[in-house]
Amino acid sequence: EYPEFVRIVEVGPRDGLQNEKEIVPTGVKIQLIDMLSGTGLPVIEATSFVSSKWVPQMADHTDVLRGIHREPHVRYPVLTPNLQGFHDAVAAGATEVAVFGSASETFSKKNINCSIDESMLRFEEVIKAAKERQIPVRGYVSCALGCPYEGHIEPSKVSEVAKRLYEMGCYEISLGDTIGVGTPGSMFKMLQSVMAEVPTNALAVHCHDTYGQALPNILIALQMGVCVVDSAVAGLGGCPYAQGSSGNVSTEDVLYMLHGVGVETGVNLAKVLEAGDFICEALGRQTNSRVARARGRT
Ligand code: HMG
Ligand code: MG
Repeated sequence: EYPEFVRIVEVGPRDGLQNEKEIVPTGVKIQLIDMLSGTGLPVIEATSFVSSKWVPQMADHTDVLRGIHREPHVRYPVLTPNLQGFHDAVAAGATEVAVFGSASETFSKKNINCSIDESMLRFEEVIKAAKERQIPVRGYVSCALGCPYEGHIEPSKVSEVAKRLYEMGCYEISLGDTIGVGTPGSMFKMLQSVMAEVPTNALAVHCHDTYGQALPNILIALQMGVCVVDSAVAGLGGCPYAQGSSGNVSTEDVLYMLHGVGVETGVNLAKVLEAGDFICEALGRQTNSRVARARGRT
């Protein structure tokens, strides 16, 4: 059995592009988001307010957020690792933000330069400031199914971090298989552990497709009651601090599977394919979406 409706969180403009070596012109990012805004996608993660020394590709965050044409029914969250990022995001017009923690100590250090405990103190400040402005905060837990540095991550560690973020006030916790090493087996065990601490309707899954396991992992999550799925148009992506991580699961492939099993998303696959054509052409890159390839796209 599957949920009737699944909310897709499109992360291509952020997670998909953050790892691109060549700086993508701001106008291309804006056009991509504007095209995605016309597909029926309810949530499009637009950019991140992180240090441009750490992630140069996201240095144009303010111009991107100010430049897009916002559809009233679409939400445009942005990543904010700390209070400075949060204030910059609000100044640029952000109305929803996301903090990003990790279930791995080493990954936390490499990604945001602090321990898990220190990150929680930073996120607490962000969440408090956001609450004052009635800005919803999403929380990520990276390395939920494995870490590029530590390898295996205990499900109990994932549930502990997820619980802390939820209790601090994140309305939704996105469980990230950052390097795409999970299988339906490890996804099942991890979700079982997290579901003992956080309500299922506050959970999302965020799969990368490195080992080709993203769709089965998502299917297991849906069968367990998760009804929010992160994905990226054309399967763009990879994390700059997770060596060997390949793209996010492609939005086109997720839509094909969901619609195939009778789950509604409100998203028009044909229009997402067009957005995929646009960004692949702009990047001079072949699509990572199997559905796009099957439909004769390159
Ligand atoms: P830090 O160097 O420890 O920061 O970086 P600091 O507080 O010590 O400050 C040092 C300098 O950075 C200062 O400037 C600050 O102003 C500046 P200086 O005085 O030297 O000129 N600074 C900032 N600048 C811009 N924006 C900010 C900001 N904060 C401080 N927000 C920091 C700490 C978190 C900023 C840094 O480590 C960073 O930017 N990391 C970003 C990492 C990142 O974006 N990773 C990719 C996203 S996570 C991901 O992809 C996983 C996910 O998809 C889920 C999954 O797949 O599992 C979400
Ligand atoms: Mg990711």
